[in-house]
Amino acid sequence: MLNFELYNPTKLVFGKGQIDKLPTLIPQNAKILLAYGGGSIFKNGVYNQVHESLKGFEVIEFGGIEANPHFETLIKAVAIIKERKIDFILAVGGGSVIDGVKFLSAATHFEGDMMDILKKRILFKDPSQVVPFGTVLTLPATGSEMNSGSVITIEATQEKLDFGGSALFPKFSICDPTVIVSLPKRQIQNGIIDAYTHVLEQYLTYPHEGYLQDRISEGILQTLIEVGPKVVENPTDYALASNYMWCCTMALNGLIQKGVPSDWATHMIGHELTAMYGIDHARTLAIIGPNLYRVMFETKKQKLAQYGKRIFNLSGTEDEIAREAIHKTVAFFHTMGMQTKLSECTKDFDKTADFIVNRFEERGWKALGEKQNITLDKVKQIVERSY
Ligand code: NZQ
Ligand code: ZN
Repeated sequence: MLNFELYNPTKLVFGKGQIDKLPTLIPQNAKILLAYGGGSIFKNGVYNQVHESLKGFEVIEFGGIEANPHFETLIKAVAIIKERKIDFILAVGGGSVIDGVKFLSAATHFEGDMMDILKKRILFKDPSQVVPFGTVLTLPATGSEMNSGSVITIEATQEKLDFGGSALFPKFSICDPTVIVSLPKRQIQNGIIDAYTHVLEQYLTYPHEGYLQDRISEGILQTLIEVGPKVVENPTDYALASNYMWCCTMALNGLIQKGVPSDWATHMIGHELTAMYGIDHARTLAIIGPNLYRVMFETKKQKLAQYGKRIFNLSGTEDEIAREAIHKTVAFFHTMGMQTKLSECTKDFDKTADFIVNRFEERGWKALGEKQNITLDKVKQIVERSY
């Protein structure tokens, strides 16, 4: 097993009615910026619960953080935080609002051009340099509620870039599974597939000595396969909702990636599809993931075969099981309402591969994946296979 350090300071407060605990989680006398998205929290009662819990605190609101949060929107909030001397930020929303708040947390005391945080992928390690924040999660998907990463879109250049660092873990996250009741089916489907792909990015690499990490990953995959199709139809079923939410957190809170190799190329390519065409994050993963496994088959086939045997009970030769495992994955994605071809999501796709390859080249991303063998010609093949 590879050496590792495990550090995750986020206090996770999970379950029904937990929003009531907000006043005990936020420092007393804090001046709070309540950040939210396009307004779903006003329709589903989450805003009222939060508002009620924050009585007695000084709260300034900032709404309108869009899905795939924009740098251009967030810098307006940074100005408010500075001007009003905010000392705690509360994100109420999905991955986009939480990621946006991580940017606010990092950018407020950042000296220099805030764009550099994204362009130079600045690492934030010093807690005294960021504004502390907590979250109330409304969409299980990204794991952002319990990790220190963030993905921000620069609207002007249509780029989606990530940054993070150990200072950017939320202080706390309230995860009440009942919030999923108001989610559109499409968002629940996205959440399941985003979490599923997070596990695959950390699991479908090559055989290693992280036996426990593999078994935990397989447990998350099996649970997502079990609850995914049902929770889309029955979001009021608390057993389904709570397992869905917990799987999403566990898929990307850092635990399963400790001591093992990880890939992340599906995400890197997928982010470009969102930046170019506005395709939902999870849906880009459903398009790219299977084609990445096909193009990188020789590198990944041993793990694909393990996945095929343990998750889908397949039998046959290693190659047969590995190939069938990719089919089964695509079939699951379809069950979850995903389209797995770029041409099903956009019409002008024929220059996509060249565009992405050029971008990666400009950024110096010449070798991706767990073995750094996803070179730019491979990226081109993966994207072209996805048409
Ligand atoms: O903006 P509002 O009105 O709140 O509506 C949102 C949004 O339209 C809506 N929604 C959220 N909770 C709801 C709800 N509607 C009804 N009821 C509720 N309870 O859902 C829509 C999508 O929300 P969004 O936050 O964009 O979705 P998600 O949580 O999937 O986040 C996606 C973003 O996270 C990034 C993605 O790239 C993307 O920008 N990711 C962040 C990661 C991380 N920080 O670790 C990892 C991921 O791989 C991912 O890249
Ligand atoms: Zn993701």
